[in-house]
Amino acid sequence: MAGARTVVIACVAALAAGAGVMAAFQYTSPVEIDHESLRKARLMEDVMFSRAAIGGPFSLTDHQGRRRGLEEFRGKVVVLYFGYTFCPDVCPADLVAISKMIEALGPAGERVQPLFVTLDPERDTVEQLALYVPHFHPRLIGLTGTVEEVGTVAERYKLYFKKVQAREGPHYYLDHSAYIYLLDEQGRYYGTFPPGTWPERLTSVVWELLHTLPTAAR
Ligand code: NI
Repeated sequence: MAGARTVVIACVAALAAGAGVMAAFQYTSPVEIDHESLRKARLMEDVMFSRAAIGGPFSLTDHQGRRRGLEEFRGKVVVLYFGYTFCPDVCPADLVAISKMIEALGPAGERVQPLFVTLDPERDTVEQLALYVPHFHPRLIGLTGTVEEVGTVAERYKLYFKKVQAREGPHYYLDHSAYIYLLDEQGRYYGTFPPGTWPERLTSVVWELLHTLPTAAR
């Protein structure tokens, strides 16, 4: 009988241990996730895991007031970046990296078209973009539009952005995802780099893309 009791105790202990392991594997969120954070996470995951169709045509107004459509850049690799000119850090750093990459590519860099689409069309007017983009690269095209137009493009590229009020005054910032998008020479989505990617890394990937395209021999 003593042996049977030992077996029962051992089984109860094993069950308890098993339950403990199960409990440890049950995912519980450490914080209450609000609707907005969930929307942001889902959009970011759409890009990270290629979970949704990304990209598509667009037509916006450039920093010289001309209407520009994605189709006019056929035959070039498009480096597409979304941000806003008031951005204090990430946007300017990535735009510098993109510009350095184009220069590092040498003559091949002429087959790369950098585009900067503002997510803040209310402040980033044609005039504001005209003051901003030449600081980075002479061929960088700044693009703006109505709030609706910009919203549609952002949605197609699964980009998250939201106004965040500054602590003081009427000023606001934008919380935004900051991927560096690559589109192939047909304007199709090729992939993204995370913000803060080194120019050397951008250069080697774009170099490879340029040399695997059907027009590489040209
Ligand atoms: Ni930014």
